[in-house]
Amino acid sequence: MKTIKTQVGIIGAGPAGLTLAHWLKKHGIEAVIIEHRSREYIQGRVRAGLLEQNTVDILKELGLADRLVKEGQEHHGVYLNFDGKRVRVPFGQLTGGRNITIYGQQEVVKDLTEAWLEKNGQLLFEAPALELEGIETDTPKIHFEHNGEKGIIECDFIAACDGFHGLGRKSMPKDAYKEYSVTYPFSWLGILAHVAPSSEELIYAYHERGFALHSLRSEKVSRLYIQVENDDHVDNWSDEQIWEELSVRLGTEGWKLNSGPIFEKSITPMRSYFIDNMQHGRLFLAGDAAHIVPPTGGKGLNLAVADVKHLVDGFRDFYEKASMQALDNYSTIALKRIWRAQDFSNFMTTLFHKQYEHGSFHYQLQKAKFDYIQLSEAYAMTIAENYVGLPFESFEALD
Ligand code: DHB
Repeated sequence: MKTIKTQVGIIGAGPAGLTLAHWLKKHGIEAVIIEHRSREYIQGRVRAGLLEQNTVDILKELGLADRLVKEGQEHHGVYLNFDGKRVRVPFGQLTGGRNITIYGQQEVVKDLTEAWLEKNGQLLFEAPALELEGIETDTPKIHFEHNGEKGIIECDFIAACDGFHGLGRKSMPKDAYKEYSVTYPFSWLGILAHVAPSSEELIYAYHERGFALHSLRSEKVSRLYIQVENDDHVDNWSDEQIWEELSVRLGTEGWKLNSGPIFEKSITPMRSYFIDNMQHGRLFLAGDAAHIVPPTGGKGLNLAVADVKHLVDGFRDFYEKASMQALDNYSTIALKRIWRAQDFSNFMTTLFHKQYEHGSFHYQLQKAKFDYIQLSEAYAMTIAENYVGLPFESFEALD
């Protein structure tokens, strides 16, 4: 039996777990990460690629943004389409210069993993957590398995950054939280293709045939999505059909979609989920372990990193000032941003997806919102500030 002693035991080497480990190390707090999956798996997992200003600032501050700055693309606005009409929401003048950066989540994971291992950080891959023991005591333990051998992490705190299906949330007593869940009646078919992006900025589109999104990864790789039925399957879609559908849904006068070889296709269901308490005793949840937002607006990774910021504040208070106050307040402060992101992700999803008959009452409400973006700078600003992400200070001022 292998026993590892550390201050913070982290389950999960996704964006939340890795960012937490690096940030704690910067402040002299020890952490060990165990990850259920292999390194190849977590680095190959295709996810969104939209980093808010806060996230980029944090990664820069931690010295983890060299490749992100080189290869990521800073965007200063976003295009919104409705029935073939296109408007642009500029970020700069509406948000006081805040922006987003497009850089794939798996690239962030690659960079953070490499940097952690370079610093001789402990990270065990293919090491599933089996059981959490003593989360209501000051000496919690993570039981895990690695290379067929059982092991224990003895720590002061457990940070469960282990995703929606992880052990972290399942280890909270059922009466410690209330859960909220909405499943949307549509999914996204996402593709990666070897083709130059057809737009220098993202395009979100409502079309009577359904939602479409044009995003990108580099000068040579485009990332695109279309709304499909929940029970649809990638095999139902030939490459030609996907390009045809994207071209129709994203279409606007004087614009043409470039097509090219598709090298990744997958379907993502759309769900809003969250629990109203992210901690119990010495166990703290961060990222998808505690909340899922529908992908429209790309908030998932950014929320995970924001949780980590509050967790780090809490752990620093504990180790530097022997105070539990900030940790006790972790859920309360994190949930303010999470609710905001739930609302914004739901807003973007509702605005651009076809959920009701084209021309119906609900369609008219969607269209009225789209028109309002063009009528009112205040409304465009609301969208822009949520899209780039509100600064941390905004939430700290809330009761
Ligand atoms: C991407 C994904 C999103 O959900 C989004 O809103 C914007 C961009 C992406 O994968 O690039």
